[in-house]
Amino acid sequence: MEKKPIVLSGIRATGHLHLGNYYGALRNFVEMQNDYDCRYFIADYHSLTTAPDPTALNANIRSILAEYLAAGMDPEKCMVYVQSDVPETCEFYTLLNMHAYLGELEKTVAFKDKARKNPNNVNAGLLTYPVLMAADILLYQTDVVPVGEDQEPMLEQCREIVRKFNNIYGDTLVEPNILLPDNAACLRLPGTDGKAKMSKSLGNCIYLSDSADEVNKKVKSMYTDPTHLQVNDPGHLEGNTVFTYLDAFATDEMVAAMTTDYQTLQEMKDHYTRGGLGDMKCKKLLMSVLQETLEPIR
Ligand code: AQP
Repeated sequence: MEKKPIVLSGIRATGHLHLGNYYGALRNFVEMQNDYDCRYFIADYHSLTTAPDPTALNANIRSILAEYLAAGMDPEKCMVYVQSDVPETCEFYTLLNMHAYLGELEKTVAFKDKARKNPNNVNAGLLTYPVLMAADILLYQTDVVPVGEDQEPMLEQCREIVRKFNNIYGDTLVEPNILLPDNAACLRLPGTDGKAKMSKSLGNCIYLSDSADEVNKKVKSMYTDPTHLQVNDPGHLEGNTVFTYLDAFATDEMVAAMTTDYQTLQEMKDHYTRGGLGDMKCKKLLMSVLQETLEPIR
């Protein structure tokens, strides 16, 4: 039988999953389980780099597992595990640390970002986060890693570790390839406040577990176009989070079924940029799209 490519990815157990986690990663996890040899884990060790509370960690591991399953992950089709249940990961992490250099680790964008946000908790685990990630991936000779765009630099560091390792020990480890979401709007989903990335630590998330009312409330207060003051003013799409989300989540079939005036999202965008279409109508469509997506998961 032909060997299926090995797919591996994980998500940190630091709280409920949000739309960025879903559209950036989890949706691909679920789609790939039918065609690939998939391993998906809950990254509890990685969570400890920023969230060391053991009580919260235990509860978070369970809620991530529940959300994996609710989103359609099927343990009959893929391997689902907790990172710390595989002690070999730590042994391998030690070995890989000998091929990871301080200068490179200090330049990691995610490390710099987290160290800036929380200067009192710059621990060694945070610095070597990409090495632990490499151990997770390389332990299984992984071919493909589905993740959001923010993980790209760390995946490149992983590939660099493979090259250094293989240079010394021969052709031992496989260089993994990244798989990003194919919809450009999902690569790095902005937060509801319009900030660059939806992130738990920025408090700008719509969670998969949010109630219908919470979702609607968050959409109502979303950032749009600050120059679109009157309905008849021409609106702008760039940086307009409602339209970024519609690009990310709405299909033309949804637009046709959920509005009376448009068959495609492009028709609605054209109306908005011409003027004559209010923000609330666009937000109403987004609410319907999100309810349709989140209801089965909820
Ligand atoms: N906004 C996003 N857009 C696209 N993809 C995203 N991912 C995260 N945010 C977005 C992808 O989700 C997967 C899990 O990443 P993680 O374990 O780093 O998730 P996180 O810790 O839950 O991310 P946060 O919310 O940004 O946490 P904080 O604020 O604590 O740092 C990855 O594939 C990631 O690309």
